[in-house]
Amino acid sequence: MVAKKLLFVCLGNICRSPAAEAVMTGKLKDAGKDQYIVCDSAGTIGFHSGAQADVRMRKIGLERGYPVTSISRKVKAEVDFDRFDMIIGMDDQNIKDLTSLARSDDDKTKIFKMTDFCTKSRYTYVPDPYYGEEKDFELVVDLLEDACDGLLNYLDAEK
Ligand code: 4NP
Repeated sequence: MVAKKLLFVCLGNICRSPAAEAVMTGKLKDAGKDQYIVCDSAGTIGFHSGAQADVRMRKIGLERGYPVTSISRKVKAEVDFDRFDMIIGMDDQNIKDLTSLARSDDDKTKIFKMTDFCTKSRYTYVPDPYYGEEKDFELVVDLLEDACDGLLNYLDAEK
C-alpha cells in the first residue's frame, strides 16, 4: 500500500466529514494500515471552526465503534491541496466548492466524492443530517462504512 494522506470534507465539518475521518481511521487500524494512511477532515465553511463534532454524530459514532474526536476547521486550499493526496467530499455541493478552491488542474485531480467508493449503497451523496433526526445520523455511518470499505480496496489496488 502506498502511503497517502486523505482529507474528508463536508459543509460544516461537525457531522459527516469528522465521522468519515473516524470510520476510515477505525477501519485502517483494524486492517493494520494506519501507519501508511493518515486521515483528517475539514469544512467548506468556517462557521463551526474550533468546535467538537455535533453531539449526535459523536453519540452514534461511538455506538458504532468509531470515536469522533476531531475539531472543526475550514478547508485551507493553499495548504490542503499540497498536503493531501485525496480530498474527498460528501456531496455535489462540496465537490463544486472544492473545485472552485482548486488552484490548478493538478489540484482538481485530487478531488473525489465519497459515495463513488460505495459498492452496496445506491446513494450518490452522503445526505446532510444536521437538521435531521437519529436515523439520519445512522444513515451517515452506514454510507461511510460502505464507502470506507471501497476506499480501502481502492488504496490497496494502487501501485
Ligand atoms: P456537516 O453538517 O456539513 O455534515 O458538518 C452541517 C453542519 C452545520 C451546518 C450545516 C451542515 N450549518 O448550517 O451550520
